[in-house]
Amino acid sequence: MTRIYVTRMIADSALARLGEIGEVRVWPEDRPVPREILIQEAAEADAMLTILTEQIDSTLLAATPRLKVISNVAVGYDNIDVHAASQRRLPIGNTPGVLTETTADLAFALMLAAARRLPEGEQYVKQGHWTTWSPSLLLGRDLYGATLGIIGFGRIGQAVARRAHGFSMRVIYHGGRAQAEIPAEQRPLDDLLRESDFISLHVPLKPETQRLIGTRELSLMKPTAILVNTARGSVIDPVALYVALRSGRIWAAALDVTDPEPIPLSDPLLTLPNCLIVPHLGSATVATREKMAHRAVDNVLAGLRGERLPYCVNPDIYE
Ligand code: GLV
Repeated sequence: MTRIYVTRMIADSALARLGEIGEVRVWPEDRPVPREILIQEAAEADAMLTILTEQIDSTLLAATPRLKVISNVAVGYDNIDVHAASQRRLPIGNTPGVLTETTADLAFALMLAAARRLPEGEQYVKQGHWTTWSPSLLLGRDLYGATLGIIGFGRIGQAVARRAHGFSMRVIYHGGRAQAEIPAEQRPLDDLLRESDFISLHVPLKPETQRLIGTRELSLMKPTAILVNTARGSVIDPVALYVALRSGRIWAAALDVTDPEPIPLSDPLLTLPNCLIVPHLGSATVATREKMAHRAVDNVLAGLRGERLPYCVNPDIYE
């Protein structure tokens, strides 16, 4: 009997496809699977469908004799020790493509919300401070005509660039591929940091992108700069960010991702009016989450059949 372990409830229609080929066990709670349970379940599974709160490390992988595929319901896969998986030729799947536009929408929503101070405006109204129209109330910054620096010009970074052109923004980028159809100029990182009014991060988390934005990088930005992170929290040094926001070294930040996640209520970033934080919602739309679940199931089914995963992050195992 084929056993498939699913670490969080996903779309019913996707689960039903798994049910046709084996016994499906789903962690029923809306919190990460406790480590002991994850290890137990993984030890008996032929396939696992995971989300990014599950740490799939070498210790766990060492105790999974039957496992033929791990399919992460995310485009990022920094929760998985891919190197350890590759060493035993275990394919790891992800869900690129289907969440690109949805995540780019959120990056844009964060840029607009931070630039136009929407969270502060909402609090102002709900707390009863709105007594008159004021020429100096909650003045923000224009996206229109501003320079957007995109760090990580992959699928999502480019989708953000396409939206930026609708706002007549000038787009510059660092890292990733040039695309002839998207007008954008490549820059060394430091030049991008100096020139940009908005900086949006779209790099995967890797050793070389860990703390990519720290004190030095923040000190190069304009005092009017707005930093947006929909990538991974650890790409930014949170202490350096706090200092930069608090001292007015940069103007604002909008974060969909934090380090750690969830951000503790005691984190000083939560005290800053110029730091907007939402709970990792990049791909969070009904349609996109359903597409991600199906893409992840495509990977599980291929892996169980011994076929190449359609969306594989370690394709070198097939060589
Ligand atoms: C979400 O963060 C993802 O990587 O899909």
